[in-house]
Amino acid sequence: MDTIKNTDTCIFNTYARIPVVFVKGEGATLWDDQGNRYTDFLAGIAVASLGHCHPAVTKAIADQAATLVHVSNLYYTEPQAELARLLVEKSFADKVFFANSGAEANEAAIKLARRYFKEKGDPGRFKIITMAQSFHGRTMATLSATGQDKIKEGFSPLVEGFVHCPLNNMEALKALADDTVCAVMMECIQGEGGVVSVDPDYLKAVRQLCDDKGILLIFDEVQTGMGRCGTLFAHELFDVKPDIMTLAKALGNGLPIGAMLATDGAAKGFSFGSHGSTFGGTPLVTRAALEVLKIISHPDFLKDTRDKGTYLKDKLTSLMANHPSIKAIRGKGLLVGMELDGDAGGIVTQAMKKGFILNAIQGKVLRFAPPLVITREEIDALVTALDGLLE
Ligand SMILES: Cc1ncc(COP(=O)(O)O)c(C=O)c1O
Repeated sequence: MDTIKNTDTCIFNTYARIPVVFVKGEGATLWDDQGNRYTDFLAGIAVASLGHCHPAVTKAIADQAATLVHVSNLYYTEPQAELARLLVEKSFADKVFFANSGAEANEAAIKLARRYFKEKGDPGRFKIITMAQSFHGRTMATLSATGQDKIKEGFSPLVEGFVHCPLNNMEALKALADDTVCAVMMECIQGEGGVVSVDPDYLKAVRQLCDDKGILLIFDEVQTGMGRCGTLFAHELFDVKPDIMTLAKALGNGLPIGAMLATDGAAKGFSFGSHGSTFGGTPLVTRAALEVLKIISHPDFLKDTRDKGTYLKDKLTSLMANHPSIKAIRGKGLLVGMELDGDAGGIVTQAMKKGFILNAIQGKVLRFAPPLVITREEIDALVTALDGLLE
């Protein structure tokens, strides 16, 4: 532990790390270098949705690593083509661009939205409306898009052309949606913002407004996508389709991959040379993601996620009777937030000592984003531990 922790001197101190060294994972279980075992209710922040080292994904990675790891996007590969085909089949979209992370997928979406209007001969439309408390990434454009000041501190001048709007406020959105706006970009459920959902009627009204004004609608499903919320993509819960959607996190179950999906109409913004990436969609990551998508998109898998999400939410809600410090339980599927009336960080530290990995966001919210393969028994054990910790 100490020899590893001593690397604090040679790794940037951008993360407030908990002093534990993980060495192994299987399903929803992680082991540290002292042989302690933990149940993971974070999944690498909504990444390892099939659990750690899922056998089918591990096999796909091993097979592909022994076959072909990388060629340039100047050529075709079978895994990339198959993954694109399946993503299109399972979504509203007609076309996919592969990137390496959520921020990069969002960069691609931002670039596409702007270029779409340049191609249409309407270069004055370049602004993108995003929501207060949103999170879209850490690159210069995506942090400029993000609706949280703390993410932007010290990085000015920011990328121009982003305006923020309070979530679930249609009047405010209408007031901003003038003919300089090319897109509205939003999360259906804000993950980093505290597990906060859009109102279903509001989302429908946003779609209508975008249609009326010719504005593109971008859903950032980096955190909510890939079954996390109990449907393959969270927007299915609201019965509203975007023009552009971004994915990352669980798409590779831990291998770095991002994707930007769009309708044929919106995709017209890009042509040869408009965008590119050396690593985006390598055979290795797309072969793994293909396996992930096949498993997660199965209707039985998604139903099981919904059922376990309801189970987790009901169990956490039952704690409210004895613990007035719990102010709210919210979320969909297996993305659940518990808002406390005080600091949630202390509970995370205590839970770790009891063998549970949790996460605190926005100071007061405990976020539960376990692998979707979590069992009811593992949920029961967590709820019993929380009952004691919340005393
Ligand atoms: C909604 C959303 N968008 C974008 C990102 C950025 O993804 P990445 O860290 O892979 O760049 C995140 C990461 O938490 C996210 O939750």
